[in-house]
Amino acid sequence: MNANDAAIGRMLIPAAEIHTRISGLARRISDDYAGVGLLALTVLRGGFVFGADLIRRMDPAIAVQVDFLRAGSYGDGTTSSGRVDVEHPPPVDGRDVLIVEDIVDTGRTLESLQERIRDRGARSLRTVTLLDKEGRPDRRCTLDYVGFRIPDLFVVGYGLDYAQMYRHLPDIHVLNHEPRPEESP
Ligand code: PRP
Repeated sequence: MNANDAAIGRMLIPAAEIHTRISGLARRISDDYAGVGLLALTVLRGGFVFGADLIRRMDPAIAVQVDFLRAGSYGDGTTSSGRVDVEHPPPVDGRDVLIVEDIVDTGRTLESLQERIRDRGARSLRTVTLLDKEGRPDRRCTLDYVGFRIPDLFVVGYGLDYAQMYRHLPDIHVLNHEPRPEESP
């Protein structure tokens, strides 16, 4: 992986399992949007790997358009700052929008995005997330398609980072601990 290997813990979801699950999600989404089409709105940075794989498994007959926005609240830490910064929200007026997220944890990011997209006049709005952290009863966001429900662990790989590292790993791993200075590259 890289010089920070000691920080990377057990594999939680292997790449093959991720890809099988994404194929299932893409089939369901293709059925639901048949004849309608959709705007797949991927949330950067974490959603970029999932979004790219998901759209390529959708039925080629579906009219799929893609766009991106950037949202972040974790900075370089492992807990949410509570403040969601959103950059470059695209026009969604009259569109059938599918938000594509890598993970929903506290739900604050998604809640904020869903509110903004509805306010901007989307015709319909659904959300797909690859990972959904269990045990968050206070969330006010809605999830329409979920890849995996996972326990309350900080995970990296397949687009998910710790301090911008590990996004390139093909499998999803648990972060053992925050990398110590002597482990830094
Ligand atoms: C991550 C992830 C989600 C959000 C989920 O983004 O991509 O957008 O956190 O957390 P929440 O449900 O507690 O709000 P992050 O802020 O780490 O930015 P990134 O996508 O650039 O890594």
